[in-house]
Amino acid sequence: QMMHDMGSMSGNGAHNMMPKAGNKPVLPEGQPLRELPRLMNEASEAGLFKARLAAEQGLARFAEGLDTPVLLYNGGNPVIEAHEGDRIEISFKNGIPGQPTTVHWHGMPVPADQDGNPMEPVASGSEHIYAFDLPAGSAASYWFHPHPHGLTAEQVYRGLAGIFLVKPKDDPIPTEYGDTVLMFTDLRLAEDGSMPESNMIDLMNGRVGDHVLVNGQKNPVLAVAKGEKRRLRLFNATNARFLRLTFENADMMLVGTDGGLIEAPVGVGEFLLAPAERVELIVSFDKPGAAKLTTLDYERGWMGPGKPEEAGMTLLTANVSEVAAPSVPPLPAKLRTIEPLAAPAVTRRFALTESMGGMEMKFLINGASFDMNRVDEVSKVGQVELWEIANQADMDHPFHVHGTQFQVVERVKDGAVAKPPYRAWKDTVNVAAGETVRILLRQDLPGQRMYHCHILEHEDLGMMGTIDVEA
Ligand code: C2O
Ligand code: CU
Ligand code: CU
Repeated sequence: QMMHDMGSMSGNGAHNMMPKAGNKPVLPEGQPLRELPRLMNEASEAGLFKARLAAEQGLARFAEGLDTPVLLYNGGNPVIEAHEGDRIEISFKNGIPGQPTTVHWHGMPVPADQDGNPMEPVASGSEHIYAFDLPAGSAASYWFHPHPHGLTAEQVYRGLAGIFLVKPKDDPIPTEYGDTVLMFTDLRLAEDGSMPESNMIDLMNGRVGDHVLVNGQKNPVLAVAKGEKRRLRLFNATNARFLRLTFENADMMLVGTDGGLIEAPVGVGEFLLAPAERVELIVSFDKPGAAKLTTLDYERGWMGPGKPEEAGMTLLTANVSEVAAPSVPPLPAKLRTIEPLAAPAVTRRFALTESMGGMEMKFLINGASFDMNRVDEVSKVGQVELWEIANQADMDHPFHVHGTQFQVVERVKDGAVAKPPYRAWKDTVNVAAGETVRILLRQDLPGQRMYHCHILEHEDLGMMGTIDVEA
């Protein structure tokens, strides 16, 4: 639906001349921000969310007159919205010709055997039911995406990714602020509208496209009134884009991270959203005119030619009217309590390295490339652990752990130690080149969990490991 809506823009004679820059298709900008479709709950009983999800081929129209073959969930990548305490039952069908896939519930506390691990592929043409419960306290902005080993990057850049919102019983954020999903994806289009296959540079650096899209649109417009406050949830669903973002002409309060609300709002001028990270913001639009969400320069480390322009892209434009909004309740000073994790019983170290010998390009954790028949670490349910992730490579690697949320303790670079300014739950943390990040975590469910770099090309090339959590 989401992608097919774009088709309705064609067929208008006035737009038939396709604008081009060089040979690259130009995408239309400035359309009203589209809301992503919702996945309908088919259950009638309270507390149950039951639905069907299918990964399928489709056509999207990103540029005038050009059809792009894509992969989509249910034809439009619907948002799943459920509540804490709900039981989830998703009947999934893999309609991708010739490829296995899985559905991974990124960041969610689901049982290991329901988490779409690469060890549990759903064959092309097959179905699988994913079932799990959403525990109390799990409200957050999650997402879901394929995780078949070696094919994750391709299936995601071809379009497969969706948002999973878990809402709390009591939400401290005033409903007057709305709740707007901004899902960032990255698109590269060839002249004929197709998506080119990834090349060596893409595999090394992670595939970066030509256009960062929001809910499938380039630089869409959000209409707001002067004085309005909006709750925005930002999702980096790109394969490899590091989005350092600022909102020109608007004030941002950070209220949430990967694992839900933080304890109290924090004013921010800018922030980095690495691949797979999410934030929740309350944005105040107090000046009439255009308020733009734009990218700032970020040095993420780049190998070889073709370094993309990162700075100065406008991802979203808020048009702020002269007419003042009706007054709204203030943002509460206290959002929730996050207990610090207890002293760790175990310390683990993970060294991230790259090796580029001859024809071989490897991305390694503790010297090893991912092998699904090998268990790299063994842990225990309920045990607090300190993980020390040392990036000894020349580029940033966003590190992600399945099945739980963690707390960042400190970051060390060039001997300087930085503590996070606020406590937060995270499932992905960027580890900059040469940096060591220490995190505290605890797995509350048994089974095998993945940890990996969330540059999806690096994950596919082996920068992933398995930890077996014993009951
Ligand atoms: Cu979002 Cu193992 O991934
Ligand atoms: Cu994950
Ligand atoms: Cu990486």
